Amino acid sequence: MLEDIERVLISKEEIQQKVREIGKQISEDYRGKNLMLVSVLKGSVVFMADLMRAIDIPVSIDFMSVSSYGCGTKTSGIVRIIKDLNEPVAGVDILLVEDILDSGLTLSYLMEHLSAKGAGSIRIATLLDKPERRRVNLLADYKCFSVPDEFVVGYGLDFDEKYRNLPFVGVLKPDAYTKK
Ligand code: IMP
Ligand code: MG
Repeated sequence: MLEDIERVLISKEEIQQKVREIGKQISEDYRGKNLMLVSVLKGSVVFMADLMRAIDIPVSIDFMSVSSYGCGTKTSGIVRIIKDLNEPVAGVDILLVEDILDSGLTLSYLMEHLSAKGAGSIRIATLLDKPERRRVNLLADYKCFSVPDEFVVGYGLDFDEKYRNLPFVGVLKPDAYTKK
């Protein structure tokens, strides 16, 4: 797997440091509130697992699964809910946890969906942000890193379901996209 990586963009140590900072900030901002972390599967699970342990106030967690990408690297613009939340969220302060804010189509759809369910508040925590690619007006409330408009993998992010288990964020060699 490592032989497919062209270069490391964000190291394991840089990620750990930043996740700790953001966890601390979230703990301060949500003290006394009814915080629920909602992880958007599958890309955000690694970030979710680290972020929740960097938060020192009570939280509940849930997972949603949506599809907006096929096995390629281009957004389809179509968002479909495959798995919704298990519990009602009326009055709950939701923090959506994402791997990457790209076009923003997925998250803006989810925000509308959750606000229709009566969530008390909805904010976004994202590991990565690709601001150049935004197609809707959406900003992350908490973000770890901005990245250039390049396809990245690792720390949860995949290409064709692979590379999610890399402990860093990196860029693939061109031939990794075509090999099977
Ligand atoms: P969007 O913001 O609706 O365009 O979609 C965001 C989703 O697309 C993310 O949750 C990722 O699953 C996927 N995605 C976008 N850019 C990348 C990338 O560079 N690497 C891996 N997945 C990506
Ligand atoms: Mg994702």
